[in-house]
Amino acid sequence: MSDPVQSSGGGEALSALLHETRRFPPPPEIAAQANAQPGIYEDAAKDPVAWWATQAERITWDTPFERVLEWDLPFAKWFVGGKLNASVNCVDRHVAAGRGDKVAYHWVGEPDGETRTITYGQLHAMVCQAANALVELGVKTGNRVAIYMPMIPETVVAMLACARLGAAHSVIFGGFSAEALAGRILDADARMVITADGGYRRGAKAALKVNVDDALRQCPDVRSVLVVRRTGQEVTWEEGRDHWWHDIVDRQPTSHEPEFFDAEQPLYIMYTSGTTAKPKGILHTTGGYLVHCATTHHYIFDIKPETDVFWTAADVGWVTGHSYIVYGPLANGTTSVMYEGTPDAGGRDRWWRIVEEYRVSILYTAPTTIRTLMKWGEEYPAAHDLSSLRLLGSVGEPINPEAWMWYRKNVGRERCPIVDTWWQTETGGILITPLPGITATKPGAAMTPFPGISADVIDNDGIPVGKGQGGYLVITAPWPGMLRGIWGDPERYKETYWSRFPGQYFAGDGAKKDDDGDLWLLGRVDDVMNISGHRISTTEIEHALVGDSRVAEAAVVGASDATTGQAIVAFVTIKGDIVQTPEEGEILVEELRATVARTIGPIAKPRQILLTPELPKTRSGKIMRRLLRDVAENRELGDVTTLLDPTVVNMIDEKMKARAGTDDDT
Ligand code: WT7
Repeated sequence: MSDPVQSSGGGEALSALLHETRRFPPPPEIAAQANAQPGIYEDAAKDPVAWWATQAERITWDTPFERVLEWDLPFAKWFVGGKLNASVNCVDRHVAAGRGDKVAYHWVGEPDGETRTITYGQLHAMVCQAANALVELGVKTGNRVAIYMPMIPETVVAMLACARLGAAHSVIFGGFSAEALAGRILDADARMVITADGGYRRGAKAALKVNVDDALRQCPDVRSVLVVRRTGQEVTWEEGRDHWWHDIVDRQPTSHEPEFFDAEQPLYIMYTSGTTAKPKGILHTTGGYLVHCATTHHYIFDIKPETDVFWTAADVGWVTGHSYIVYGPLANGTTSVMYEGTPDAGGRDRWWRIVEEYRVSILYTAPTTIRTLMKWGEEYPAAHDLSSLRLLGSVGEPINPEAWMWYRKNVGRERCPIVDTWWQTETGGILITPLPGITATKPGAAMTPFPGISADVIDNDGIPVGKGQGGYLVITAPWPGMLRGIWGDPERYKETYWSRFPGQYFAGDGAKKDDDGDLWLLGRVDDVMNISGHRISTTEIEHALVGDSRVAEAAVVGASDATTGQAIVAFVTIKGDIVQTPEEGEILVEELRATVARTIGPIAKPRQILLTPELPKTRSGKIMRRLLRDVAENRELGDVTTLLDPTVVNMIDEKMKARAGTDDDT
């Protein structure tokens, strides 16, 4: 494990900044009306478990819970004995309360001008129809259903239909390959896949169904595939297995009598990269997760369901979309914007047109996107009426103070508080964040554990660090939205999260307490990279590379990148004398990049692959990634004395410098 403070790449710049940070107190008009008022921290701290029990009243329980928490470290059960239905909480109860005409989603397609408005009443009918269709196709409570979809309303409908039946969904981001999809379907033992012919991406039609067809060659147990027609592109069809959504779903009754499930009924499995080649199936259950999403959404985004228009600009295929496009906002009866495309589809002001048109009041996005918008220039937001915005959020990676300030000035117009929210697929919802009406924020800091959450920064020996010091972030008490395990692998669950510091949840992130005791997140301390806010494992890519029979060895590092946070750089040694000329080398590099895209997905394609005769190793044979990271980031080389052959790294370094400028960034 690397040094938490050094590994971030931004550690030194940050510590310089910590001492002269400006603070931005909450604007009085926000503070006066805020859902979270001073005192909330003390209230929660008195008895966190009791505080969460109070928050659980946001949810409609068919049977009330008997005990708030059963904690058999590291296995938690929340709201024990309670029964509920997540889809009823997200949809039916709002309709029953007379809010059926309220808009649940303003959906905006990537092709300009394509929009849909879906009210809670319509969403209810769609979810009921889809649930009835799933029953007809044989889905039962306790099953798993894989969802591989573009960003369209049917994706949300499919998730809620599964939840309604007590079948766990596993949404797989559309940017993953057929192979990655197959691995996840097999691991979850999903018997049904919901997909679309394709989706729109940067103006083109990207195919999805063809990847499902490919994947299912390895998944004989999948009996049915439900396909939404989105783009109209050609698809191949397997009679008996494949069904069009419009054939099966549209003819179903628009009502469905829900059953109620145990609070610990699995709600979904979301796969995420770990430090080994095999992704982890993070399991979330129903009651605690829903309480966590609804509560954090309410307080952190200061949601006023009557007036707010909330926009999480993320894909439903990641946890951010699950918690803050689907479950949190719907549980709170909020109106959301759901946008299908990239920020520049139809022009670099596309987002600002959406904000203006729908009067978006809260925008939640990732630093990588903010840096991209920054690069394009302030004239794009400046040309639009953004006066509806009152609160901004950031998630997915450390936000550099420069991006934070740009966001504040050009999007928030110096008026909107910014909440930098730290969390993970595993945590289910936000754990560390400012509260908009209370916290005086600092550019780049996630600041404070949410009420009812206990976190600390500790050193190698597990001792809490003092103010002004860095270490490892740990969560020291269970929380309602926490993962309940890794699907099918309780040992790996204990080992990954609970063994490094016994009794505490080890997040895998470095963090620092500043002189005021406020928290700054510094990035991963393990072999997991963060590319544009997406978690990608170095080991998984190395595995994909050595899967090519010509590759002898591969080492992958995340190098800091001005836009994407980190970028993937691979060092590869080739067997024998396969590569004779520079041209052959170029071709091989392109082929290897394509191999990674095929094995994992386009998001995992290395920015750069360097062919090298050897990799730098310690005398015990360990690849020295720290040195490779120095090379990849063009830094002065650190200590090389423990190397088996110090000349290797110098040679690689020279090669890298010689190539600088000749590589494109695609
Ligand atoms: C990792 C989790 C949370 C949803 C999106 C990513 C990094 C996340 C922040 C933040 C600094 C952050 C951490 C974490 N991260 N938010 N506000 N500041 N780092 O979910 O794919 O599970 O990745 O993202 O390194 O461990 P994920």
